[in-house]
Amino acid sequence: MKTLAVFASGTGTNFVAIAKACASGVIDARVALLVCDKPGAPVLDRARELGVEAFAFSAKDYASKAHYEAEIVKRLDEKQVDLVCLAGYMRIVGETLLHAYEGKILNIHPSLLPAFKGAHAVEQAVAYGVKVYGITVHYVDESLDGGRIIAQRAFPYEGNDPAEVHRIGQKIEHELYVETINKVLCER
Ligand code: GRF
Repeated sequence: MKTLAVFASGTGTNFVAIAKACASGVIDARVALLVCDKPGAPVLDRARELGVEAFAFSAKDYASKAHYEAEIVKRLDEKQVDLVCLAGYMRIVGETLLHAYEGKILNIHPSLLPAFKGAHAVEQAVAYGVKVYGITVHYVDESLDGGRIIAQRAFPYEGNDPAEVHRIGQKIEHELYVETINKVLCER
């Protein structure tokens, strides 16, 4: 059985979807670790409820990104993690982690990349008057939201309420991330 780590900074609905899919056998893997850069984030409560071990850290407690990423790599190595799934992890992955887990880090992003990279994708898309929205799962490389695309799903929306786009997109994210993790694991 393969081993996953999920990285999240906030609510953690994708983390829950992935952990539950693993627990029920929909994904043939186990979530061995949640990595969270925000001690106090709701996702840590979700991990506790689901019995998933968590590593929470504050970047300011480390001398540099390389230092906290070295700690993360140590913990991923200890668990022999096969695949890292970023799910609302609000930090740019640095070279320490990228180098150690090259080709093994996925991210989910709430737009049809390469359109609307960055933290405010949905708000920007709504401001543009976009009529077809979507979700992307991609490999993580040194560029921001720029790694090779693995899966995308689009949905039409004609309104102008970012919260509604987030709501519609969230359900699609959970399904698409679980499907895509399965696909990537099967190919390995
Ligand atoms: C999602 O919208 C995802 O696309 C983005 O961050 C959000 C995480 O949501 N990368 P949640 O914490 O999983 O609910």
